[in-house]
Amino acid sequence: MSTQAPVLSTATERKKVTTQTLRRKKQRGEVISMLTAYDYPTALAMDQAGIDVILVGDSLGMVVLGYPNTLPVTMEDMLHHCRAVARGAKAALLVGDMPFMSYQVSTQEAVRNAGRFLQEAGMDAVKLEGGSERIGAITAIVSTGIPVMGHIGLTPQSINQIGGFRPQGRDGAAARRLLEDALRLQDAGCFSLVLESIPSRLATYISQQLEMPTLGIGAGPGCDGQVLVTHDLLGLFDRFTPKFVKKYADLNGEMRRAFSEYITDVEGHAFPAAEHEVEMPDEEWQAFLEGIESGE
Ligand code: KIV
Repeated sequence: MSTQAPVLSTATERKKVTTQTLRRKKQRGEVISMLTAYDYPTALAMDQAGIDVILVGDSLGMVVLGYPNTLPVTMEDMLHHCRAVARGAKAALLVGDMPFMSYQVSTQEAVRNAGRFLQEAGMDAVKLEGGSERIGAITAIVSTGIPVMGHIGLTPQSINQIGGFRPQGRDGAAARRLLEDALRLQDAGCFSLVLESIPSRLATYISQQLEMPTLGIGAGPGCDGQVLVTHDLLGLFDRFTPKFVKKYADLNGEMRRAFSEYITDVEGHAFPAAEHEVEMPDEEWQAFLEGIESGE
């Protein structure tokens, strides 16, 4: 880590993105961009690049904390990473993902936990997974003034029920249920909806039926916006890459290259070089040595 004074960003100030901004974008046919972030530098870079929405996703559990799925993620994990993101991003709409068991047990707990994302972690809104079965929690959270983003289709917190990370809504009845869920979530007050891993034609149809914007991940180009897990996009997560991901970089490969170059340099005495050293004036060095010799 550098101990130099920070260089202040020269990026032009952007207007804060709000839930209304997203609604207007949909009305104007402008596509919404959304990515996940879990730390300060990533959030800063993304915000400066002009992203509309940053989701502090519970995908954190898999791509940052190394769990096999999102189920072990806790409220404290989420709040810790949300705070870091909020320090980095000033203009993007910030959405905190409610972790497994933070909104399912009771409406009261759901409201209390949703509130913590805004009160303690600098988020603007929360996201939670599920369809009609979540209407009670969503209605209660929205009634306190907290914007809620819905999430249907492949809902990773339910992998044990749906049998793994697999596409949803591929038969007529399942597609119909997803459409009904989407409409009910809109009626309950959601300001937007993530559609994950469902057929493109179904996602397009649902998006056209809704006034609230949809954000697709593995749901094709007919959604009102797109979202990806940033570690997939950057090539930072090596365990698997879903079919719907486009890799924009190979940062895992780049990190390994940099780390092995560092190890080679250290072992070969090529690092640190003269330019990395802290200097001390000769007279001060002499004074130091003389002080030791004279025992003072
Ligand atoms: O946790 C997450 O990153 C998500 C996105 C996949 C939408 O929910």
